[in-house]
Parts: sequence; C-alpha cells; structure tokens
Amino acid sequence: MRQYYRFQSRIYDSTRWSFLFGRKSILRHLQQKVTYPPEHIVEIGCGTGFNLTAMARLWPAAKITGYDVSEDMLSIARQKTKVLPQVHLRQKAYGPEHPAPGCDLILFSYSLSMINPHWLILLDQAIKDLQPGGHLALVDFHSTRWGWFRQHMSNHHVRMEGHLLEAIRKSTLDIKFKSVKRAYGGVWEYVQLIARKD
Ligand SMILES: C[S@@+](CC[C@H](N)C(=O)[O-])C[C@H]1O[C@@H](n2cnc3c(N)ncnc32)[C@H](O)[C@@H]1O
Repeated sequence: MRQYYRFQSRIYDSTRWSFLFGRKSILRHLQQKVTYPPEHIVEIGCGTGFNLTAMARLWPAAKITGYDVSEDMLSIARQKTKVLPQVHLRQKAYGPEHPAPGCDLILFSYSLSMINPHWLILLDQAIKDLQPGGHLALVDFHSTRWGWFRQHMSNHHVRMEGHLLEAIRKSTLDIKFKSVKRAYGGVWEYVQLIARKD
C-alpha cells in the first residue's frame, strides 16, 4: 500500500474527483444525522486530507485524528492541515494494535475496500472504539456487475463485492442512512452509510 501510494500520491488530488464519488455529500448527511457536536473525530485512511479539512470546517471545535499508513499521502495532508491545530495525523495501520478509543465519529472514506484481507478487523475495532451514541460513516465502492471492472479494481487493491454494506448490516450498529448509487451509468455502484452505536 505504501509503495502503491508513493506514485499515486502525486496525482491523487487531481484525479480522484472523477471517481471517488459521494465524499462531499456524506459529510452533508453527517451534519444532519449527528445532532451532537462531535468532540473526537477519526478518519481511517485519511490520505491527502481531503475529508480532514472539510470536517475541520464543519466542526471547528472537534479534535480530528487522521490515520494512514502512507507517508507520501500524509505529507500532503500535513501541508493542508498545518494551519489547523485541531487536526492530528498518525502514520499507523489502524487496528487492534493502534486503536482510537473514545471517539464519537469515525469515517471510512474509500479506505475499507482497499484494506484486504483484514477490513473486518478494522470495522470491528471501529465499533469498539466508538462511544455509545457515536456514529460510523462509510463512503466507498460497493459493487459492479462487470467482471472486467472488478478485476481492474482488484489490480488497484480494491475489492468490490458488496461486502462492506453486508458486514455493517450484520453488525450491532443501527443504520440511520444508507444510499447505493450508480456511477457512470452503472459501471459500478458506490455506497454511503451512517450508522449509530447504541
Ligand atoms: C483511496 S485512499 C482514501 C483517502 C481519503 N480517505 C479520501 O477519501 O480521499 C485510501 C487510503 O487508505 C490508506 N490505508 C490503507 N490501509 C490502511 C490501514 N490499514 N490503516 C490506515 N490507512 C490505510 C492508504 O494509504 C490510502 O491513503
């Protein structure tokens, strides 16, 4: 993953607008669903900080921590967030060895579909780390009916088998918002979801 993002980090922000759909709108949905002011927000796989800066604008009083394994991606995030003292970056693989206990909002934005095969361990850890009443938000690739596209995405470390939504449905989280939308007339679908820990 670190190796993959050594080059991709250079073109990330200029290219991802064209296929990482739903990142802005999941934050708008979160604003409606999360009625408390979040105190500690965590983004797992924060990349270049696209969501960190947006969340810092939405919730300026919250402490925001971004986890990522790629130093190349984090160095871009560091530049963007240097004027935001409430944003903290950790170059760590989030999981049981590097948990984030006591947070009240966790965002997975196009990270979980790439964290294979151990994505479920991270999802379980996030559920543990959320305080009761806290929310988990997901925006990610969902599925595709085209085998060639599934293979293409798999070459880029992305698994597109509808497994994220299925796992959250089976979890103890209470789903408050869910949307599956088609991209490029149905080449693939992406999922947005907000779920509460009771
Ligand atoms: C497609 S990028 C998404 C970045 C950002 N969330 C966004 O929406 O633009 C996926 C990111 O997840 C990171 N990542 C992969 N495995 C990880 C892990 N186990 N823990 C933390 N970050 C990880 C990668 O380094 C990469 O920066």
